[in-house]
Amino acid sequence: MMSGQPLGSRVWLLSGVLLVTFAGTDAYGFGRCPNYPSMPKFNMSRVLGHWYEVERSFYLPEIASGCTTFQFEPYNKGEQSKFSNFKLAVAIKNINRITGNPNVNIGYATPENSRSSIMDFKFTTRFPDVIARLLPGSGKYQVLYTDYENFAILWSCGSIGSLGHSDQIWILGRDRDFEVDVRSKVYDVLKRLSLDPERLIISKNKQCPEAL
Ligand SMILES: *[C@@H]1O[C@H](CO)[C@@H](O)[C@H](O)[C@H]1NC(C)=O
Repeated sequence: MMSGQPLGSRVWLLSGVLLVTFAGTDAYGFGRCPNYPSMPKFNMSRVLGHWYEVERSFYLPEIASGCTTFQFEPYNKGEQSKFSNFKLAVAIKNINRITGNPNVNIGYATPENSRSSIMDFKFTTRFPDVIARLLPGSGKYQVLYTDYENFAILWSCGSIGSLGHSDQIWILGRDRDFEVDVRSKVYDVLKRLSLDPERLIISKNKQCPEAL
């Protein structure tokens, strides 16, 4: 019986227990989001084009999707020749593996300054702004590291009230899967950033249509 305890501390205890339970997936942590600096010498022009989602951290709402691709293009072609950093148009495509239906989300990413790999991402389609802000797709995104030619590590983190934070990792590849040496390079970089590669699951990329 908890008869002696005020309600407030019981609620606090309960949320603590919930956070510890979630901490098994490591997507939730106490305190603020860790602060990663922008990737040094980040070159926006070199991340343009087509990427496949090869691995990502577990995220329940995405459990049914597969064959996810990302396409990055300059939002305004003129900006690319004038500035080293510019706004991106982003298309994220995937397939619902239960219904087989394709799904396309269009958005744009605005870099926080002229050299930063940290971007503010918003959907332009499907959702009104208010709803889009609640979805995991909108918010601050960061290219933690990329070699431009094989892989890119994309990361996003948001606070959950005052209780803690939740973050997501996407490993994008120029091909649907990695060669062994590329994968071990990716994992090395993650470990140096104190991100646990154990959190990643291989994306569902079997029997994907060529066009996506
Ligand atoms: C960025 O990459 C583009 C395309 O490879 C290249 O032309 C440009 O010189 C690079 N910019 C810098 C500052 O290195």
